[in-house]
Amino acid sequence: MEMAESSDNEQEIGRKVIIKNFVALKKYMHPDPIIDCETDFELLTVTDRRTIQGKGLIEKNEAIFRKVMSKGARGYKDFKERLKKTWQTELLQLIVCAENGQNTREIEDRLKKIAVLSPEYIKHRGELKEDLMRFYKWSHSKVLLSPLIEENDTPLASFYIRPELNVNTLQDMFKTEGVANREIYLKADAGLGKTTFSKYLATSWYQAHCPDEDAQYFEMKDMDCMRDFDFVFLVLLRDSNTSCSVDELIFKLIISKLANSTSFTEEFIEKLLSREKCLVILDGLDEWTHPNTQCERGPRSIPHRNVREKCTIITTTRPWKLGDLNLSSNELGKTVELTKLSHDSAGTLVTRTLLRLKSPPHNMSIEIDDTSLVKEIFNSRVAHLAYVPLLLMYMICLSCEGFNIGKSKCELYVKIVELLLLRTTQKYGNIHKPLSSVNSSMLFLNMINVRNTSHS
Ligand SMILES: Nc1ncnc2c1ncn2[C@@H]1O[C@H](COP(=O)(O)OP(=O)(O)O)[C@@H](O)[C@H]1O
Ligand SMILES: [Mg+2]
Repeated sequence: MEMAESSDNEQEIGRKVIIKNFVALKKYMHPDPIIDCETDFELLTVTDRRTIQGKGLIEKNEAIFRKVMSKGARGYKDFKERLKKTWQTELLQLIVCAENGQNTREIEDRLKKIAVLSPEYIKHRGELKEDLMRFYKWSHSKVLLSPLIEENDTPLASFYIRPELNVNTLQDMFKTEGVANREIYLKADAGLGKTTFSKYLATSWYQAHCPDEDAQYFEMKDMDCMRDFDFVFLVLLRDSNTSCSVDELIFKLIISKLANSTSFTEEFIEKLLSREKCLVILDGLDEWTHPNTQCERGPRSIPHRNVREKCTIITTTRPWKLGDLNLSSNELGKTVELTKLSHDSAGTLVTRTLLRLKSPPHNMSIEIDDTSLVKEIFNSRVAHLAYVPLLLMYMICLSCEGFNIGKSKCELYVKIVELLLLRTTQKYGNIHKPLSSVNSSMLFLNMINVRNTSHS
């Protein structure tokens, strides 16, 4: 009895929502994908399809809605599923807003703007969004505890500590007096967390659009800000030595790795970057140089970009590189600085790292507790270096391994190199034996990491 009542209720809500939004729905819905969409409910029979086939857009849509309303609550549910499956996201939002009695003006304005888009474009746009979210979840939702612990990455959401920026909120970074900043440069010395921050932005973007159990760790304000972007492209510049334009970098480093990569042509990506509100994050400008090709575009100090009205580009870099760029203030746009950890944040990072090291999969038997470790680090002569996350992670690892963290910067770096060597020999055997190229390059990279940090 109750079930029947709730289904009657849904049917009534569905009928009201469709009637109230009839004009927008029949004007903006793409009927053919709805008709062809496969669900486990038969909304239209073969005869219905045949009758509808030759009609124009409005008439086709009217026929579909008549069918939906005649099929009761189940028909309405199926209709929403079809909108979802055919990526007609804005229409689905319109319906959900109307169901909840919310104002639909903003969505209607958006629908007007996207009315010109073809069903193919809408389908690819939806698929790309889903693929990107899957990709970020798979490849960018983890951080390395330290290069000393390579195997198991740590979930970024629960581990990440909001860094100190010289702007109060992400909103202040993206907008100045209500106007969007299209070019943003985020500068910070090595190891302060530029790459991790870039991953945080990509992760908050997908959490904002499609939250999972980790969404609880993100600040509401950040999520609201990231939800505003239709797409986020995170490019790790260190991974490229052959591409020189932003579009090419996106294509080679991101699109080619997606599940449906071949569905997304260069032409489609170009259109998308021009039409949708996109955020492109270029991480590590200091790790990139213009490839030695005959490209005539300038300037060669940054990846070339096309002028696009809705696209925001954040470039992260070490400060010295910014000075070398020779860009006009217009080209530089807004500059934001990521600074060292506060004392409290550093303490929290120690607590979180110890907790991670003591729990699976590391299961390290560590005698020291976080309060004693914080004391040890901040009473040491290298305490001032502990506000750099990368170095703090090294200090924690050294201490947990029974090493002394040293009395000077030089001694600390020596200890780090010693520990890196020890780890490498533990893993690959005696260092005097010839190392395979992979092993030696890994060792070398780890050492470079330390050396670079010492320069900052
Ligand atoms: N905000 C943060 N919260 C937690 N750990 C961080 C944070 N920022 C950096 N780290 C740690 O420091 C390491 C180095 O940071 P990274 O982002 O690679 O620095 P950068 O790109 O500036 O050289 C990361 O692997 C991570 O372990
Ligand atoms: Mg980096």
